[in-house]
Amino acid sequence: MYNSKIIGLGHYVPDNVVTNDDLSKIMDTDDAWIQERTGIKTRRWIAEGSEDTSAVMGAKAARIAMERAGVTNKDIDFIVFATLSPDYYFPGCGVQIQEMLEMDTIGAIDIRNQCTGFVYAISTADQFIKTGMYKNILVIGAEFHSNGLDKTTRGRGVSVIFGDGAGAAVLTREEDPTKGILSTHLHSEGKYADKLIVESPSIAKWVPELMDNPEDISYFPYMDGTFVFKNAVVRFSEVIIEALEKNNLSKDAIDMLIPHQANLRISQFVQRKFGLSDDQVFNNIQKYGNTTAASIPIALTEAWETGKIKDNDLVVLAAFGSGFTWGSVIMRW
Ligand code: ACO
Repeated sequence: MYNSKIIGLGHYVPDNVVTNDDLSKIMDTDDAWIQERTGIKTRRWIAEGSEDTSAVMGAKAARIAMERAGVTNKDIDFIVFATLSPDYYFPGCGVQIQEMLEMDTIGAIDIRNQCTGFVYAISTADQFIKTGMYKNILVIGAEFHSNGLDKTTRGRGVSVIFGDGAGAAVLTREEDPTKGILSTHLHSEGKYADKLIVESPSIAKWVPELMDNPEDISYFPYMDGTFVFKNAVVRFSEVIIEALEKNNLSKDAIDMLIPHQANLRISQFVQRKFGLSDDQVFNNIQKYGNTTAASIPIALTEAWETGKIKDNDLVVLAAFGSGFTWGSVIMRW
């Protein structure tokens, strides 16, 4: 058995910056409400007419990660792509990456675990590397939310939170068992699927049925924000503790926690609970909003680029989201 480790990171966000004041021009909201409840100041939304999509942004982030890792498209053995906003109902974005990056006919899978998508994707890649089946795996998280949001006052409780973007990591084999990914932890609780959901179009309720019922807006995301918040803070904490206990580590050993950027208030709650300093937790939701599967790889990239993660640091990734799903990754950098 091998360990796996991250050897390259990259991110891409669209140029179009949307401020809270911009949103207040199209719906009944304001900067103070959004900042107070979520910490978000701006987000990126793909501009009309742009060719960016989840797959296109994912490819852009992947090219940067691969260049930094010093690998070419011929070195990658497998693609794992996490998104809830794929370009097509099917096929998935993973196969688009194989084509866009002119890779050999390697395998590609899509992971559909929403805000926990990148953690599930890293865990999946880690298993393939552990067994020796693959050596280098490209892991991408990307989301094109803005086209699917209800940008009216009716949808303000959800639409102000989400942003577009992509992040990518190259994982490779690590022979030293004390380095790289030490363990990953995955959970789900499907009984709460309807608490954060885009219900349609589904095969059970396909497009013609929706068109016949103009009042049916189940194609917009629905979120029971308070319920999600309460569950998120509990599950984030549990799954971080699970990762530490599995490796006989205490919370004092954490050098850097990268929480999924769901809401700054959730991150701050977790930070307080673990008694971590501002230097031990990385947040950039203020700039990008919640980019779901892309939030951890974008944050991880920025933390690494700015020197906040150093060799031998203990880095913890943790996420919670729709499903419900939650999970963590603990690694020695
Ligand atoms: N601007 C102004 N007012 C708003 C807005 C807005 N954008 N959105 C909702 N409101 C109003 C509501 O209509 C309501 O008005 P009312 O009292 O007259 O009925 C009032 O503000 C309070 O609404 P709540 O939904 O109760 O506000 P809450 O304090 O719960 O904050 C929020 C909402 C920010 C969504 C919060 O519940 C939350 O953070 N939940 C966690 C969910 C989360 O982080 N989701 C991210 C995605 S999921 C994930 O990544 C895990």
